[in-house]
Amino acid sequence: MSAAPLRFFFRHRLRLLTALMLSGLLLAAAGASAARFTGRVRDAQGDPVVGARVTFQHGRPAHAATVFSDDAGRFISPELWPADDYAIRVRRIGWKDLYTTDHSLPRSASIELELVVERETDPAELAAQLPSNHWFALVLERLDDPAQQEELKRQCTYCHQQGSYATRLQRDPEEWRKLLLLMGRMGGNLTTALREKLPALFNSSYDPKYAVPLLTANWNDPDFAPPPSAEVRRAVIEEWELGSRASMQHDVVMHPDGRLYSVDMAQDQLYRLDPSAPDGDRKSWTLPRGDLPLGGVFVSAGDRPPANSNAHVGPHSIQVAPDGTLWITLALGNQLAQFDPVTEQWQTVELEHGYYPHTLRFDDRGRIWYSIAASNHLGMYDPKTGDSRQLRLPAGTLGQAVVLRMLPFMLWLGRQVDLRNLAAESNGFVLPIPYGVDIAPDGAVWFSQLNQHRIGRVDPDSFEVEMIDTPFAAPRRMRFDSKGALWIPSFSESLISRFDPKTREFKQWPLPIEPLGSETPYAVHVDRRNDTVWICGTNSDSLIRFEPQTEKFTVYPLPTRVTYTREISFDSQGRVWTSNSNAPSWQIEGGMPKVLRLDPYGAVTPGRQRSQLE
Ligand code: HEC
Repeated sequence: MSAAPLRFFFRHRLRLLTALMLSGLLLAAAGASAARFTGRVRDAQGDPVVGARVTFQHGRPAHAATVFSDDAGRFISPELWPADDYAIRVRRIGWKDLYTTDHSLPRSASIELELVVERETDPAELAAQLPSNHWFALVLERLDDPAQQEELKRQCTYCHQQGSYATRLQRDPEEWRKLLLLMGRMGGNLTTALREKLPALFNSSYDPKYAVPLLTANWNDPDFAPPPSAEVRRAVIEEWELGSRASMQHDVVMHPDGRLYSVDMAQDQLYRLDPSAPDGDRKSWTLPRGDLPLGGVFVSAGDRPPANSNAHVGPHSIQVAPDGTLWITLALGNQLAQFDPVTEQWQTVELEHGYYPHTLRFDDRGRIWYSIAASNHLGMYDPKTGDSRQLRLPAGTLGQAVVLRMLPFMLWLGRQVDLRNLAAESNGFVLPIPYGVDIAPDGAVWFSQLNQHRIGRVDPDSFEVEMIDTPFAAPRRMRFDSKGALWIPSFSESLISRFDPKTREFKQWPLPIEPLGSETPYAVHVDRRNDTVWICGTNSDSLIRFEPQTEKFTVYPLPTRVTYTREISFDSQGRVWTSNSNAPSWQIEGGMPKVLRLDPYGAVTPGRQRSQLE
């Protein structure tokens, strides 16, 4: 080595060393201010309570971190920001919730807690601890016709959970009829035969005298709500409240810069969450609305939007473009919107054809492909050239094709006279709904057609469309793995499927959510670094992991009741992000929508500590 490179080498090595030392100091400083709760969950006799969810909540809007107690009942919280007013909740099915407030967490402290929980002895309270799907299963099992079961799941669980405390109330049959008409006007329309059955069916299935003994049978059996597995107990789940009771958090996306973006469909907001700030730092922007009225292009003569709705453009799906800008489908505004996080400027692009831009994805040429749900189109937009297409997709029947052609006229007519009851009482007439979209590793564009039980492929150059029937109902949001297999959730058959585009073979796995068949998985996403499949446990307050190599499922119970999930995003550390998107938000436990992060291996265990503040 000559002198010059040597000098260069040493200078840079020194710089590297200094950088390392500095970052060491920074970490030490962060460690000094961070603090933890540790302790034990036990019963009155002193026995450990295993697998309890211990939640530490702080701030307004709140941030909450949840860990699980281990075999000895012990828990260690992640590093938390010092404060003197933490609320702590301990929750395990079969035990009364323990909720205590005003816990102080000083700087650099490790606070030891002894948390004593009591057995739940009231069967009604115990039944109320179970996720909605347990209650909904009581309704489903009394419908003899499998087609009606399928219809009820597909048409009634796509905005909110069924079987939650808000939906399982006893109602006068006349009130049920009005309610079903309201749901039908919003899109949850049913065949007449099913609609007429529902008031009596709901009232009898949800009657506590009938439901509670069934739901709590064998509750002294150790197999009744066993603790989550040791694998699950390695997880840390964090939740950040975002928006308000009048919000509807639709999709989320993790930006490569480590911040999460989320769109609020009911309030026309874009949110950004920086999870590295104490309790999370939140910022929001109102979407550009032009002069669109409440309801956007779908405004109709008979519309009475909920008093708290502020949706003119209705942002729905959000993705990060290769240049780091964000693109959003405006479902009610019939546009695509671009947001530049650096300049905070907006651009919008109007759709030329079609209604209700829905889910968007980027291909590796930077083009946007998006489903157009109401009019059965698939859209393509190239931000570089401005090239834009809207492909009309095949309808299932002639009747559907005719109605789809008449959509612009129907929307015009709907602004003159109230047509909504027509749809609500249409004896279950549904249109094909292009839903999930994803791009295969070979560049082909694939989409699902929800009500037709089909998937389709679009050639990325010739735009030729090919349709394929699925051997299961209601394919929703699907994703490719790194090897080109397509993973598809069946919303109404409680399963996931793997489709091989080369052999055209499907293989199904039922979801292991009890009672079997009561889950409605809205979306899957594949972490392409290891091809792990993550599934929304939409009606059971869970996130589900599937490892294709071993065909093993792991079910992570989420901390908040009525956690309705519909889109998954990963961060650079493989942590799983989603939002609680139950609409209406006020049905969520606590009434506030949230975004959440599941770190499957985040728990602090002896010998392995992952810093929150890294
Ligand atoms: C398009 C979204 C959507 C669909 C589909 C939908 N709902 Fe709802 N549901 C809502 C909203 C929004 C509310 C709150 C309405 C309000 O209070 O104004 C609600 C409320 C309810 C409630 C509680 C009402 C109350 O007073 O607390 C029940 C029960 C219910 N829905 C049942 C159903 C059934 C059964 C179906 C299927 C026929 C269905 N929902 C389909 C959006 C939907």
